[in-house]
Amino acid sequence: MERAAAAQRRSAVARTWALDRGAVLVASGLPLPIAGTDQFHDFHAHPEFRYLAGIAEPASVLAFDPAEGWALFVAHPTLEDRIWTGEGPDPDRLESLAGLPVQPVERLAAWLEARRGEPLALLGNHDLADRPEGYRLPPLERFEATFDEDLAARLSWQVSEARRAKDPAELDAMRRAAAASRAGHLLALRTARPGLTERDLQVELEAELFRHGADRTAYGTIVGAGANGAILHVAPSRRELRDGDLVLIDAGAEVDGYASDVTRTFPAGPRFEGIQRDLYQLVYAVQRAAIEQARPGVEYRDLHLRACERLAAGLVDLGILRGSPADLVDADAHALFFPHGLGHLLGLATHDAGGCLQGRTPSDRFGLKWLRADLPLQPGYVVTIEPGFYVIPAILDDPVRRQHYRHAVNWDRVETLRGFGGIRIEDDVLVTEGAPEVLTAALPSDIPAIEALRSEAFTP
Ligand code: GLY
Repeated sequence: MERAAAAQRRSAVARTWALDRGAVLVASGLPLPIAGTDQFHDFHAHPEFRYLAGIAEPASVLAFDPAEGWALFVAHPTLEDRIWTGEGPDPDRLESLAGLPVQPVERLAAWLEARRGEPLALLGNHDLADRPEGYRLPPLERFEATFDEDLAARLSWQVSEARRAKDPAELDAMRRAAAASRAGHLLALRTARPGLTERDLQVELEAELFRHGADRTAYGTIVGAGANGAILHVAPSRRELRDGDLVLIDAGAEVDGYASDVTRTFPAGPRFEGIQRDLYQLVYAVQRAAIEQARPGVEYRDLHLRACERLAAGLVDLGILRGSPADLVDADAHALFFPHGLGHLLGLATHDAGGCLQGRTPSDRFGLKWLRADLPLQPGYVVTIEPGFYVIPAILDDPVRRQHYRHAVNWDRVETLRGFGGIRIEDDVLVTEGAPEVLTAALPSDIPAIEALRSEAFTP
């Protein structure tokens, strides 16, 4: 499946490029040293390379010219690599995944010499620095004079456009990633108890992701208990869960390079208490409505704004905001409690390529500037839908904002929410010709299901 998939992606992209001359290099990238140490960061192949080559080897280059088509150059392990990290993947396996013969990367220099003088577009990872330890690319700097940045920008943009709608092989990986994420979150929901730390939950959840097929976590796991839940990307700490806390966990598995991205929020005890229940129910209703509306042709920005309006209406009903929901959203008052966007495209990156149509730039409006996708949805796109409600001191304690929103916000009511933390509910949604398919639907998020899972943590 993968072999055919990578070949089909390359054919489709080459047709879109419609080049009649020139050459294109798509580089996977080089392992990045950890400054001041003799170690490297975990290697992540550039998504453009992985998408078109079907493999994820470091120091490798996919090359194209319109006359001869595609060639794949892969770094073979040096003696040093073989001693310290092993023989590397079997070349037959790489060929089978890529659907192309694999050549040693040293041959790339000759391939380039044969095309000297042609416009050259460099895609993928642009970091050509030689690494003293092990991985080496031929000295591409020699050809830098012919790198055509405008051409590269156009071709790269076309790859991003191609990457938006996922093909069956990609969806298969994304479904497996979603299944692993479900297992991790279920374990956390079934076992979290006051006295355990955020770190305890991270460790157990991530172990379960790996037991269920994850190759890595798709991003740094977020666990926020109590007030920490309001820090959008909080790193798990030694803070213990306490009775009365909400716990927000945003964690996803990566499988074969493809991310899942899932957030659940639950009470540290067995049940949601007081205003937690009302606000959770509101965020849940906003999320369900947005998922239902994620249909072909719908502008993601409109989906976001409709979700904001629904949230604002609920906050008016709960006595937190004052005014008409539409006016509140026009004034960005909702963003005091929901500052981020409704979600983003998902795939080979957690915030996947092509999130905005060419020519569109993120608005600098407070209520829109962190919206990571601005395009009409199409069948095959996978997006996250992740509304939230947060009590963020950095926003709410700002005197300028308090003055500006003095009539729109019931500040006395907000004071009673100090330390509340946050609620986010996030699922991965495949846009189809018909009803949206929620790839993470097997992990429930409605209050009865969450409380049923939580009761297991307190059953001897
Ligand atoms: N779920 C992590 C992020 O979207 O940044």
